[in-house]
Amino acid sequence: MPAPTRATLAAACTLALWACKGPAKTDAAPSATAQAQRGTAESPWLVGMSQCNLGEPWRVQMNADVKKAAEKHPNLKLVFKDAQNDSLRQRAQVEELVAQKIDLLIISPKEAAPLTQPVAEAYKKKIPVIVLDRAVQGDDYTTFIGADNVKIGREAGKWAVKALGGKGLIVELKGLMTSTPGQDRNRGFREGLELDKHPGLEVVFEADMQWLEPNARKEMESALTTRKKIDLVYAHNDPGAHGAYLAAKAAGREKELKLVGIDALPHEGVEYVKQGILDATFLYPTGGAEAIDSALDLLAGKSVPKKIVLGTRAFTKENVSQGGEAIP
Ligand code: FRU
Repeated sequence: MPAPTRATLAAACTLALWACKGPAKTDAAPSATAQAQRGTAESPWLVGMSQCNLGEPWRVQMNADVKKAAEKHPNLKLVFKDAQNDSLRQRAQVEELVAQKIDLLIISPKEAAPLTQPVAEAYKKKIPVIVLDRAVQGDDYTTFIGADNVKIGREAGKWAVKALGGKGLIVELKGLMTSTPGQDRNRGFREGLELDKHPGLEVVFEADMQWLEPNARKEMESALTTRKKIDLVYAHNDPGAHGAYLAAKAAGREKELKLVGIDALPHEGVEYVKQGILDATFLYPTGGAEAIDSALDLLAGKSVPKKIVLGTRAFTKENVSQGGEAIP
């Protein structure tokens, strides 16, 4: 056999490389090689779930929803990572999951900017990526699943206008403003207030409580110290609204104001409404079950929409006993 030339060697290497990597995968379809190896009960698909933190009941619920939906499918195996509310840790964990050769990534990112690159890198390696609840920047992911936070904020704003009869002093305790739900819930709320049409309404205090109840309580203490009168508190999540309630109660002022939050977990926000602690809360579904539905489709080679928008409901004193009210 003649000695191989450089050109034939190069061609052989290219072919060998192609064979190892398999044909280029599409967004929706994992490689033929991977499909042959995984996706059975004996050799399940490996799905990485990167959660930004498990310090709040809503995120614990999200993981429980993902787990419950996945348990019905023996051809799925999940690996959970908890970034403990640290974007850099979450970034490293995504990289670890990719190095572990996951077949699909589900991520609920802490913040948009720091998680954009690791998500894009996974996606460019042809790993389908499902982004849940908080968004990343750009388009380098397979699908985004979450409720419309601008709409939820707007509904909270409209509810506030009604509850106050178009007149009153408002405190806004914002979620982390480097995360998309914080930005969207703020924008929607201001749209819903229509301050140009309601000159008697004023947002007199606003602070970023970063989604955390203890921070919300501290910020509300400052609001109560500096403002002799507060008519309504809008917190971007129920832990924040509860923190505000605790501060108002400690100051003996909880009866002077109305409180509205977001999340409406049955054992958290909805319960607060039933107990008269909150006046209203809006449902923010976790999307855990929907993420598994999409994961199954993607792993089966089907395509899914780039964006899946989940619905919301309003829970108030008036409707809480009937399971709240759907918002079209
Ligand atoms: C939990 C949480 C929820 C909120 C969501 C927004 O970390 O703060 O309370 O609705 O994140 O992403």
